[in-house]
Amino acid sequence: MEKVFKIFGFAGSLRKDSYNKAILRAAGELVPGEATLEIFDLEGIPLFNQDLEHQPVEKVKEFKAKIRAADAILIATPEYNYSIPGVLKNAIDCASRPHGDNAFAHKPVALMGASPGMMGTARAQYHLRQCFVFLSCFALNQPEIMVSFAHEKIDKEGKVTDQKTRELIRKLLESLVVWTRRLTAST
Ligand SMILES: Cc1cc2nc3c(=O)[nH]c(=O)nc-3n(C[C@H](O)[C@H](O)[C@H](O)COP(=O)(O)O)c2cc1C
Repeated sequence: MEKVFKIFGFAGSLRKDSYNKAILRAAGELVPGEATLEIFDLEGIPLFNQDLEHQPVEKVKEFKAKIRAADAILIATPEYNYSIPGVLKNAIDCASRPHGDNAFAHKPVALMGASPGMMGTARAQYHLRQCFVFLSCFALNQPEIMVSFAHEKIDKEGKVTDQKTRELIRKLLESLVVWTRRLTAST
């Protein structure tokens, strides 16, 4: 029997009606049969303080444990001031510490993002890819999903209604499963 891959996903937004939470929910609807997607809310992760990195709060312990238990990671990032939101960067920093206890190490990771603007989080995504280098993640290169004009593609109930976007998300998940299988086979 083929292995079922556990994908762990989170969005870099705390906003209730977040477009990035919406595309992550759509990913949950479009995940292929050989994978599952668990969605995690970053609400409650405190600001990182290096003085306290050896005594993480329960929410950070849970976040790190779920990253570790996952076969692959899926991140939906908003774009704030041409970069990733502090909420997302902070969560990543928390899970990457203390030194030698980086939960992201060697994880296959895919990313996507949604914005009402015309660039669809492109600039934020390339900043996030830069973080993956030091995190030692294996980032999936393609497809790239930069959902521009998100307010036209996601309805008031938070459902992704744009069929091209849904198709791209489906392809991203399929590619992430192939990528994860390939990496797992070689380790
Ligand atoms: C502090 C801040 C900075 C922003 N900077 C950008 C930006 O650089 N590029 C962009 O496309 N949208 C920018 N936006 C608009 C966000 O894309 C928009 O608020 C989006 O809905 C955030 O993602 P979410 O819906 O998942 O919360 C910014 C919003 C905020 C609050």
